Amino acid sequence: MTSISDYIQTHRDRFIQELMALLRHPSVSADSAYSQDVLDTAQAVAKALREAGCDQVEVCETEGYPIVYGEKRMGDHLPTVLVYGHYDVQPPDPMELWDTAPFEPEIRKTALHPEGAIFARGAADDKGQFFMHVKALEYMVRNNALPCNVKFMIEGEEEVGSTSLSAFVRENREKLANDVILISDTGMIGRDVPSITTGLRGLSYVEVTVTGPNRDLHSGLYGGAVANPINILAKMIASLHDENNHITIPGFYDRVQELTAEERQLMAEAPFDLQEYKDALNIDAVYGEKGYTTNERNAIRPTLDVNGIWGGYIGEGAKTVIPSQAHAKISMRLVPDQDWHEITRLFTEHFERIAPAGVRVKVTPHHGGQAYVTPIDHIGYQAASKAYETTFGKIPVPQRGGGSIPIVALFEKELESKTILMGFGLDSDAIHSPNEHYGLFNYLKGIETIPLFYQHYTELATKGA
Ligand code: BES
Ligand code: MN
Ligand code: MN
Repeated sequence: MTSISDYIQTHRDRFIQELMALLRHPSVSADSAYSQDVLDTAQAVAKALREAGCDQVEVCETEGYPIVYGEKRMGDHLPTVLVYGHYDVQPPDPMELWDTAPFEPEIRKTALHPEGAIFARGAADDKGQFFMHVKALEYMVRNNALPCNVKFMIEGEEEVGSTSLSAFVRENREKLANDVILISDTGMIGRDVPSITTGLRGLSYVEVTVTGPNRDLHSGLYGGAVANPINILAKMIASLHDENNHITIPGFYDRVQELTAEERQLMAEAPFDLQEYKDALNIDAVYGEKGYTTNERNAIRPTLDVNGIWGGYIGEGAKTVIPSQAHAKISMRLVPDQDWHEITRLFTEHFERIAPAGVRVKVTPHHGGQAYVTPIDHIGYQAASKAYETTFGKIPVPQRGGGSIPIVALFEKELESKTILMGFGLDSDAIHSPNEHYGLFNYLKGIETIPLFYQHYTELATKGA
């Protein structure tokens, strides 16, 4: 039997070319101008799954973008791994900040990636990462090394809230039945510091509008005499944090699970260099909630951030005007056991309450999801840990992640299985930003590590059975 490392060596160039072909599809789910491209991408993913050895592949239609499903069965008595990923990507703008076109992938060397990295929107989030699973499957099928059953479910709406997938999961519990879910859509600490993500934050995303006078007004004729919605919105937003950077919404922290001193101690042992962190972002100081470290602030603590704010005149030159409206988009990252519906309600009530007379406030909820945690004594975690230990030569560090994949909590609720987050990205990959890239090292290391997960997981799952 060919070993995975030999197989990668032989097929390295093809693996890279195939990923680059997938990255040429501009599958931007947020912008309907790309809808045909998103649909084409689903077909390309289905073709890749067929070629990799899935014997049943379907492009499942939904009210939104299709879900690509594939499976390879090895035996009814064997465990089943469900692989999830997403083929949609974030919009590429601002376009002018890309060194090369976002949908014309190019390999370039960087200080961190001497062997090269693929630059393209979706390279790391998530095409490059789910495609590692497709290539790992190809290796296992062609070399009789697939020890269990596998199901693939690759969706096209992750970046816009996974609306269709939520319904699909509820309606297809049997089809999706599995023993463990495997996802590569997160990161690790460093290329020589392997880590496994053990948690994801939840999310509540809202949009707010503050309305004052019924039209834009001359800021001389009316200035000082009526509420300016932008001034008011800025004041209201500023009041959402106190002097310690705690969030001031009543009840916001009521359900937050505090970590024990031991758990915080364990977290603090993960390698982290504050100076490097600041240098990478070109900031002279970090900023955040009093009483917590940087790693705690971005993983185990909830947050509230303005993602965008607009209103009034922003064209060339000056226009003396008091705008009729001001707007902002606000995200709140949540932790166990906050409930995103409850948080959205608490935010709405508070925001309406603090609005002064003279303006009206409207809060429109967008999407959200619950936080998620994988315990490290789960056999899926242990199988992943052993796999990394072999390919990286080091035991991976468990690490709670700050990002969100809201569907993971729904998987736990509806499919009753735990998710193992084997992400191979790096913080420096610039996901959602211009010049997103994915290291060839990370891509190939992922392909190498995944088959070992299957092997160890099947051993552990069938041991006591
Ligand atoms: N893959 C990311 C989430 C992620 C990245 C988690 C890195 C942990 C580490 C995912 O595609 C994403 O961007 N999620 C969104 C939420 C979604 C509802 C738009 C997010 O976290 O903002
Ligand atoms: Mn992603
Ligand atoms: Mn993303």
